Amino acid sequence: ILRMTDLDLSGKRVLIRQDLNVPVKDGRVTSDQRILASIPTLKAALEQGAAVMVMSHLGRPKEGQWSAEDSLAPVARRLGELLGREVPLLRDYLDGVEVAPGQLVLLENCRMNVGEGKDDEALARKYAALCDVFVMDAFGTAHRAQASTHGVIRFAAIACGGPLLMAELDALAKALENPARPLIAIVGGAKVSTKLELLSSLLSKVDQLIVGGGIANTFIAAAGHPVGKSLYEADLVETARQILADARARGADIPIPSDVVVAPEFSASAPATVKQVEEVGPDDLILDIGPQTAQRYAQMIRAAGTVVWNGPVGVFEFDAFGKGTETLAHAIAESGAFSIAGGGDTLAAVDKYGVADGISYISTGGGAFLEFCEGKKLPAVAALEARG
Ligand code: 3PG
Repeated sequence: ILRMTDLDLSGKRVLIRQDLNVPVKDGRVTSDQRILASIPTLKAALEQGAAVMVMSHLGRPKEGQWSAEDSLAPVARRLGELLGREVPLLRDYLDGVEVAPGQLVLLENCRMNVGEGKDDEALARKYAALCDVFVMDAFGTAHRAQASTHGVIRFAAIACGGPLLMAELDALAKALENPARPLIAIVGGAKVSTKLELLSSLLSKVDQLIVGGGIANTFIAAAGHPVGKSLYEADLVETARQILADARARGADIPIPSDVVVAPEFSASAPATVKQVEEVGPDDLILDIGPQTAQRYAQMIRAAGTVVWNGPVGVFEFDAFGKGTETLAHAIAESGAFSIAGGGDTLAAVDKYGVADGISYISTGGGAFLEFCEGKKLPAVAALEARG
């Protein structure tokens, strides 16, 4: 893949696709992680004297109409604060953009353009015509084959990978393609069904696979233990049993919790009780791994060469059921392993337990991170590779 860092951008019209799809509430950005992650790329282009156009989507608006709710205006404001300059937000830009070298403009939500979602060729050509160089830097949207992430790469005079995209790909390759061993993956979350592909793909790569949350409950059931009223997927118990058998056959370990934290109901104020896994009662809800299990997993993590973390192991939004996730988060941060964390709730847990500094790489990708870990080729990355 051609890298932006290998190009001379001075005086060039540069269109940079970022993923600035951030949470917005009451017109304000509530988490600016993705905006922050885009700053080094934007500054590098500006410092080289490029005329910079930044493009992103926000949410999933209806194509063909502008709506205040899906406008990038709050993002433009936050971006301006972080760059220390005003960031104009342009609504009409498909037929040309006025921007001088050393200046930067933000183009309104690209998902408002007709044809964006279905990767329309005419729209992709319009994007391409805006610039001399197209920079794909939106790792978080690299799994979408849309006009601004995939189509434009085919038609731009020059198309390259931006520093953020390349850093993400380099970190993921280091963790999954050529890992220092042992490689441990931690996969948490509510449902086995949404992580089946991830689990099967990781199985062929990892030495140990720690499962957490509702996913662990299905594995606890597969191991023959009671799960009471816990969230689990009865129809996937057999699949989980098969995954356990496959893991054993490959010499990979999927540990089952020996103790768990249970409660009579799903609430922040429910009393938390630690039980051995075989003692879970018919009215119990398993909401976290127990302290013994957390210590055992932490020890494994401390001995790891590489850790890939996706998803909390308990209901960490409730403090009484967050200790398992907290223990593992600190173990990851303190271990000498190369560690990578990504996907939705994971970043919320990283924030809550203040472990960001101890993690080698924090991905800006949710779905894109998952699809990469599932071994899928991301369409935008494939398009860049095809351009050479
Ligand atoms: C994300 O937040 O995962 C990306 O920005 C992609 O958003 P999408 O799921 O709406 O395509």
